[in-house]
Amino acid sequence: MTSPDHSQLLETIAQLSRDVESLSAELSETNAGVVALYSELDDRAEQLKHASDLKSRFLSYMSHEFRTPLGAINSLCRLLLDRVDGPLTAEQETQVRLMRDSSQELTAMVDDLLDLAKVEAGRVSISPEWFDMVDLFSALRGMFRPILNGSAVDLVFEEPRNVPDHLYTDHKKLSQILRNFISNALKFTTQGQVRVTAEYSGGDNVTFAVTDTGIGISAEDQATLFNDFVQLDSPIQKRLRGSGLGLSLSKKLAELLGGCVTVSSEPGVGSVFAVTIPLRMTGAQASETPQHFPPNWKPSVDGR
Ligand SMILES: Nc1ncnc2c1ncn2[C@@H]1O[C@H](COP(=O)(O)OP(=O)(O)OP(=O)(O)O)[C@@H](O)[C@H]1O
Ligand SMILES: [Mg+2]
Repeated sequence: MTSPDHSQLLETIAQLSRDVESLSAELSETNAGVVALYSELDDRAEQLKHASDLKSRFLSYMSHEFRTPLGAINSLCRLLLDRVDGPLTAEQETQVRLMRDSSQELTAMVDDLLDLAKVEAGRVSISPEWFDMVDLFSALRGMFRPILNGSAVDLVFEEPRNVPDHLYTDHKKLSQILRNFISNALKFTTQGQVRVTAEYSGGDNVTFAVTDTGIGISAEDQATLFNDFVQLDSPIQKRLRGSGLGLSLSKKLAELLGGCVTVSSEPGVGSVFAVTIPLRMTGAQASETPQHFPPNWKPSVDGR
């Protein structure tokens, strides 16, 4: 015979076992729910990736298709301006120049879109090589000379400070970043100076900075500047067009070079746009490793 205590105990155990069973059923239901959620998340991630691939593909096809007709318009404008097919009146010349400027602006935008699409699709190849700092600055100086003709703004390239004569990186991408910083600085500065500097910035890094005495940017706007298609409201902006892609592309290119971009600015005083990159790209940043060392290259003290 079972004692009352004993049967009570059995009853409690039976109750507990029912509780465990119902808990376990609940848990397996929750588990099934979590699994379903995970698979839904996977689906969403897949859809997002697909959408992003489609966007990149659309941008690159579109940009590619635009290049040919734009190239034709540019060439035809050049022929007309060179008077290959006879003289132009002053008014016709103004009109053809306007056509040429608009088509060049569109070409620059198409190029930026194509570059962005390539970066987003992971299809930009970085080709680091040794190059001379002096050559980089003199090429940039030459590029901007025609734009500066008669301008009230000076473009000054300072002697690099504490930077080796030769750097090992993709100088075309670096030059593309600096070109956009300088052209922005010249666009948004009506008088004063645009100063380009290169300075050792600790570790194995060099910082290139473009400082202007232009309209400046509020702290709030600085936060969004590096996003695609951002253009701030200003009287200058209304006069000059552009696509708002230059800074976002510059940021992505700097990251591909193993570096970053920064901005500091004060409205009415001016802005400093800077890019910091390694003096020498390493194997992790580029698939290629340095093959040739320049004759005057000395390794840094810690042997890196
Ligand atoms: N040095 C600067 N001073 C003041 N505002 C600037 C400066 N540089 C950039 N900006 C602001 O940031 C915006 C984005 O610059 P970004 O280079 O991305 O585009 P953009 O120059 O307008 O067009 P794009 O470079 O594509 O031709 C500019 O439109 C301008 O409003
Ligand atoms: Mg720009």
